[in-house]
Amino acid sequence: MSARLLVACLLLTGCAGTQSTLDPGGDQAGALFSLFALMMWVCGAIYTVVAAGLGWALWQAWRRRGVDARGHGDVTHRTDRRLTRLLPIVAGTIVLGLTVLITASFFADRALFATRAAPALEVRVTGHQWWWRVEYRDPASGGWIETANELHLPQGQTVRLALGAADVIHSFWVPNVAGKLDMIPGRTNLLDITARRAGWYRGQCAEFCGMQHAHMALAVKVEPPAAFRAWLAAQAASAGAPGGRGAMVFATACSACHAIRGTGAGGRAGPDLTHVAERRTLAAGTLTMTRGNLQGWIAQPQAIKPGTSMPAVPLTPADADAVAGYLAGLR
Ligand code: CUA
Repeated sequence: MSARLLVACLLLTGCAGTQSTLDPGGDQAGALFSLFALMMWVCGAIYTVVAAGLGWALWQAWRRRGVDARGHGDVTHRTDRRLTRLLPIVAGTIVLGLTVLITASFFADRALFATRAAPALEVRVTGHQWWWRVEYRDPASGGWIETANELHLPQGQTVRLALGAADVIHSFWVPNVAGKLDMIPGRTNLLDITARRAGWYRGQCAEFCGMQHAHMALAVKVEPPAAFRAWLAAQAASAGAPGGRGAMVFATACSACHAIRGTGAGGRAGPDLTHVAERRTLAAGTLTMTRGNLQGWIAQPQAIKPGTSMPAVPLTPADADAVAGYLAGLR
């Protein structure tokens, strides 16, 4: 009994979770899961029939071992004739099974791609080594609102993602919601997603893109439309300017690569940091967002994520502390 319980627990915990294709929280992931389930049942049934047939054949062969040696060769001929009569049934079953699977696969594929009405929202997601630039079309101004490594989605609404890449091929994949779709430099791939279940999910780059491919995660939050609109309006605002020494150090040491809207910092090489302290993670899912981790990341990026484009900027301990304090206040 306890063994059965253990197996059941292992199976079920394998299916649930924030990064699982077997726990769909959106229409497109649901279409993929239904296709998977159908294929499992059809292929499972075929496997069972084939295994049973093989078992039966082996049993017959064992039962009749030595019959031919005693001179009853016509038994084999009778079996051959029976099997020949079965052939059209077997062929028909295979053709029917394949037709069902091809049809289901065609409709699942159609459910995944941008073919329907205008989406509620457009979002541009660009893969970089090794982080995600995320830009929302502002419904008010028509301009773009930029953030990084975090994708917020309004529950129940269709969002059209325009996927691209800045350097090498990456792949967008949030298993609970949608994906995967390659992000290719010089090309835009469109992906519609309709998330249904509120909560946090984990996305992961799904195309090997270099040394830190594994550390290219995307935090995804699905929230009710009103909460989403409030979040987007807050993102559109410039940074509250806590100023002070941290802001001054940032302006000289960091602003060539990072932007903070509402200040002079406008670098585009790295992630926009306007509301960085509100994000859940740092360095594309590598660290949780805390002031201590911010300071550690600034001091030793190459130790935390070897190969990252973020250089170790030589700062005095007091300056590093001031910058970390400044960034931790960007909400
Ligand atoms: Cu980006 Cu793998």
